Amino acid sequence: MKIGILTSGGDCPGINATIRGVCKAAINHYGMEVVGIHGGFQGLFEGETEQLTSMSVSGLLNTGGTILGTSREKPFKKKATEEEKKERTRLIIENVKRMGLDAIVCIGGNGTQKSAYKLSKIGLNIVTVPKTIDNDVWGTDQTFGFDTAVTIATEAIDRLHSTASSHRRVMVIEVMGHKAGWIALHSGIAGGGDIILLPELDYDIKAISQVILDRFKKGHTHTIIVVAEGIKTLNGRKAGEYVAEQIEFETGIETRQTVLGYVQRGGSPSAFDRILATRMGSHAAELIARKDYGKMVCLKGNEITSIKLSDVNDKLKLVTEDNDFVVQGKRIGICFGK
Ligand code: F6P
Repeated sequence: MKIGILTSGGDCPGINATIRGVCKAAINHYGMEVVGIHGGFQGLFEGETEQLTSMSVSGLLNTGGTILGTSREKPFKKKATEEEKKERTRLIIENVKRMGLDAIVCIGGNGTQKSAYKLSKIGLNIVTVPKTIDNDVWGTDQTFGFDTAVTIATEAIDRLHSTASSHRRVMVIEVMGHKAGWIALHSGIAGGGDIILLPELDYDIKAISQVILDRFKKGHTHTIIVVAEGIKTLNGRKAGEYVAEQIEFETGIETRQTVLGYVQRGGSPSAFDRILATRMGSHAAELIARKDYGKMVCLKGNEITSIKLSDVNDKLKLVTEDNDFVVQGKRIGICFGK
């Protein structure tokens, strides 16, 4: 068999480990030929590929980014006419035939799962692997990249405690997560955040301000607020900046903000993510060997298994009020916005 691999959407730590996992299992165990498709789904049109060998993926395990390059290009644009969609379908099928691919592994987040499902519906043999630091892909307990991002954010929060305490300040740290607050929730708990604000849960500046004033009254030297970038703000203002400004105004306590940004997504994956990515990559090769197409590899408990792309399509995994982290967090005194 000859298979293709592409990586699409925002990058994250562990993609290269996944590519390596797919390749090693596909080539060494199943005797397949593997081709890397460059630049995400765009590569299906431009046809820029490279032969991947056991040797060429050696040394990738601990590297950041994706050796194949990525883009947010979708195979089918939302606003495309029926004619354009037909033409794109024809082109993709023709290119996949020309490349001689029996199946394609698509590594990506929610957008990728959606696009991959569309490709499987036009008759291509597709298997996907979920990846994103946001951990918001429905159908898997965890995505690789998330653990690394949480570790980086936690280290940053750790460092903010001492400077906040020295200056008796409120420190707001904005972490990634537009729709889902998983990074804020996990790093907030791991980093000892006092207040955690998530896109999924409403917050009230006056209530938060009262929590802060009470903390200072009790003798706490500082307060750490972990904010997901996607929380609702007035006029679409940036999350960290808005919360810091409002808190300073309400409490009169000096407040600073730090935006963590892309360091959460770059660099070497954690040991957990290397293992998850390797297992998921190898499982993707197994699904192809079994011709079990139209599936997304997933983690359930400690087991690597798979789920139908049709079940994953158009869903998001979000934090809910009854999530155990939120419940236990509240119990130990963390304020989640109210
Ligand atoms: O990878 C997910 C994510 O990091 C989001 O949390 C973030 O807002 C977004 O990607 C930004 O990515 P880009 O600037 O590459 O579109």
